[in-house]
Amino acid sequence: MTTLIAPSMLSSNFARLADELAAIERAGADWIHLDVMDGHFVPNITFGPPVIKAMRPYSKLLFDVHLMIAPADPFLEAFAEAGADLISVHAEAGPHLDRSLQAIRGLGKQAGVVLNPSTPAEAIEYVLDRVDLVLLMTVNPGFGGQAFIPAVVEKVKRVKAMIGDRPIRIEIDGGVTPETAPLVVAAGADVLVAGSAVFKGGTEDAYAKNIAAIRAS
Ligand code: DX5
Ligand code: ZN
Repeated sequence: MTTLIAPSMLSSNFARLADELAAIERAGADWIHLDVMDGHFVPNITFGPPVIKAMRPYSKLLFDVHLMIAPADPFLEAFAEAGADLISVHAEAGPHLDRSLQAIRGLGKQAGVVLNPSTPAEAIEYVLDRVDLVLLMTVNPGFGGQAFIPAVVEKVKRVKAMIGDRPIRIEIDGGVTPETAPLVVAAGADVLVAGSAVFKGGTEDAYAKNIAAIRAS
């Protein structure tokens, strides 16, 4: 599978979301990564379905919605209706991961499962037939701009082996830069989320150069 780049809007200017979406699409983004935080599952708060719905008309790219909320199930329908194409839930966010994943597919959306850095790969062994994507966190979720945790590279390899020939993408989130991207791609990752490394510079030209630098690496 070709490697895709999914800029995290968390590092964009929230006062200019429509412009930032248009700029990042022209700069070469493949997907749009949207970080939803509830101040409970993670120690930060971002945005929810109304903001995603408002953003939806300004991009044709896939909306990759990363839910850092607990519980997630009561809100899945709202995120689907807001325009999410792929909805990912954390394995650590509740006791009924299989139910959450079934619910996402039941809404007609692609389903993803996320693992924090300290969660073993085996946590998703019995849900692999219910997912389109496995998202491995390479930082502790909650904030952009944190340092990449190298121990997760080994987990990428394990998950890749567990997936076998299933059509499941492996996405990496946290501390992705031109220096760290090659490590996870070599291990089997094919979607790279990048926030601070993509939005640094603050202009469309800078975004295009930043995305190209990750791709070239
Ligand atoms: C962290 C978020 C990430 C974050 C990545 O909780 O899930 O998507 O925006 O930011 P960088 O690329 O700056 O580490
Ligand atoms: Zn994320």
